[in-house]
Amino acid sequence: MRLALSTVGCAVALICLTACDPPGKPGPEEIAPSEVTDFKTLFSQNCSGCHGPNGQKGPGRILNDAVYLAVIPKDTLKHVIVFGREGTAMPPWAMSEGGPLTPQQVDALVDGIESWKKPVSAPAGAELPSYAESTPGDPVNGKRLFGRGCFACHGPGARVGSVTDPSYLSLSTNQNLRTSIIVGRSDLGMPNYRFLNAGHALNDQDVSDLVAYLASLRPTESAMGNTK
Ligand code: HEC
Ligand code: HEC
Repeated sequence: MRLALSTVGCAVALICLTACDPPGKPGPEEIAPSEVTDFKTLFSQNCSGCHGPNGQKGPGRILNDAVYLAVIPKDTLKHVIVFGREGTAMPPWAMSEGGPLTPQQVDALVDGIESWKKPVSAPAGAELPSYAESTPGDPVNGKRLFGRGCFACHGPGARVGSVTDPSYLSLSTNQNLRTSIIVGRSDLGMPNYRFLNAGHALNDQDVSDLVAYLASLRPTESAMGNTK
């Protein structure tokens, strides 16, 4: 009996040596939030609620998309994660900006998202528009292009949500509109820039024109137009 008990005691002590930590110190399964550097964990804890598990099929922008990752410069990707987008649902994530993530965690996210990159080939005449607007857009031409390339899906009564709705536009930056037009939503059935001009590609200026048209429908002059 004595022997049996001490064997049990011994076993418990052994288990505790390997599995139990002194109280107060987080065990191996509960790493302190600031110590997590695994990309998948960081992304699912902080980003997938809006951007979808694995960066797709969320209510917010697709991030796991070859065209998106070909067009967004790495510095810009990092900048958005650090500072967020003021006035939108995208908050700043870096501790330096009042967010929850350390510099190492921000870098792990940037590198992890970049690891989703795949080569994209733009066919002749369908050069990738630039991420940032390079020339001012013309809203009149934008309206015309919208009627040709977007209205069928986004016009009143269409099955997809309206993107001309002032309340939608007041929560979305010009950059977000631009990104959406270039990238589309391959996860939800919106084609990318290559197919949005009556089946042909939109060029850089066309994208700026479409954004200028949508921006002209915002109820008031807001900060949405000049965010990085
Ligand atoms: C509460 C919702 C929400 C969460 C959580 C969130 N985002 Fe966002 N994110 C948004 C919205 C909304 C936008 C578009 C903002 C705009 O209008 O420019 C955005 C934009 C972005 C963009 C820029 C898109 C572009 O225009 O190129 C990146 C990159 C991004 N988010 C990454 C992340 C990462 C990484 C995380 C996790 C650390 C994250 N987001 C968490 C809502 C969210
Ligand atoms: C074949 C249908 C179709 C066409 C054509 C189309 N879209 Fe979309 N669009 C969609 C779908 C589907 C979504 C995803 C809707 C959702 O979030 O529920 C979407 C989403 C969007 C969004 C939100 C992006 C996001 O990240 O969630 C914007 C902005 C947008 N479209 C603008 C446009 C503009 C501008 C055009 C024309 C240049 C256009 N779309 C053409 C189907 C289309």
